[in-house]
Amino acid sequence: GKPSILVTGGAGYIGSHTVLALKQAGYEVVILDNLVYGHQDLVEKVLQVELVIGDTGDRALLDDLFKTRDIAAVMHFSAYAYVGESVTDPAKYYRNNVVGTLTLLEAMLAASVKKFVFSSTCATYGVPEVIPIPENHPQNPINPYGATKLMVERILSDFDVAYGFKSVRFRYFNAAGAHPNGLLGEDHNPETHLIPLVLLTALGKRESISIFGTDYPTPDGTCIRDYIHVSDLADAHVLGLEYLLKDGESEVFNLGNGNGFSVKEVIAAAEEVTGLSIPVQECDRRAGDPPSLIGSGEKARKILGWQPQYPSIKDIVTHAWQWHQQRHK
Ligand code: UFG
Repeated sequence: GKPSILVTGGAGYIGSHTVLALKQAGYEVVILDNLVYGHQDLVEKVLQVELVIGDTGDRALLDDLFKTRDIAAVMHFSAYAYVGESVTDPAKYYRNNVVGTLTLLEAMLAASVKKFVFSSTCATYGVPEVIPIPENHPQNPINPYGATKLMVERILSDFDVAYGFKSVRFRYFNAAGAHPNGLLGEDHNPETHLIPLVLLTALGKRESISIFGTDYPTPDGTCIRDYIHVSDLADAHVLGLEYLLKDGESEVFNLGNGNGFSVKEVIAAAEEVTGLSIPVQECDRRAGDPPSLIGSGEKARKILGWQPQYPSIKDIVTHAWQWHQQRHK
């Protein structure tokens, strides 16, 4: 059979979709998740794989995990990801995202497991100088969240030089949507992301959707983002893993569709998909939001053979809508 893969954060949004994709590709999966933000009910009902409850910073737990199982590679999704909170409580972010990851990497080295797929982010680029952003764009993050991800990227390149530790680093643009089967999706608490907030407004769970800034230098004045379907992210992870299992060299890939949608366009797509009118409130800009973030996925297409299945914003919102309707029944 195929080897066992340890997935940290497998009970979270992108992790859970990837676990399902790994299972469908025939891999054995063990999830490590501290359930601070992850969902045990989804692991039990939908994923049906082993769940170890614990932290990536727990070295004794990790040593035991690697000793008692034959793990070929690790996919690392567990990180805190609220940009705003990372500014007000950076210690929480450096502790979990950097120190926790370093502990995990040291445990891997001790167990001679040297293949690693890492969730990085377009937030490592900071304010882009060119659009679409290529992988070799300078990385100058403008918040602690992005800084933690960049630090791990740096650790990974140094570990490759020193220890032959091979990694694929994926820099996601805006992860969005839900599994087309309707059983997995985005469920953050608190929720801060645009698409789920728009749909929660459509469901009547919120009074209106705030538009953060209408005076940006974009065609309609609202921010433009490159929304990438979570199932397309999951597919990229399986391809990245297989690349490493075939002894590929360390690489970094942007995961985006190469085109963007404004906040107003996303709201219009949601009104079309739901058939409901969604009340909006035009607000001031949110601190730290670049006007436009779009990433080229060309390199992942070329080297990994990645082919996003759902680049349309309508498909992304449709799948998210299916999920939210059943999750909040
Ligand atoms: N937005 C609104 N109203 C809202 C929420 C968001 O207008 O109620 C706008 C934002 O200002 C932004 C766009 O919608 O222009 C998308 O915002 P999200 O919060 O959904 O996502 P971000 O673009 O802020 O994504 C960032 C980074 C990612 C990182 C993520 C963390 O770009 O790398 O935050 O969750 F992973």
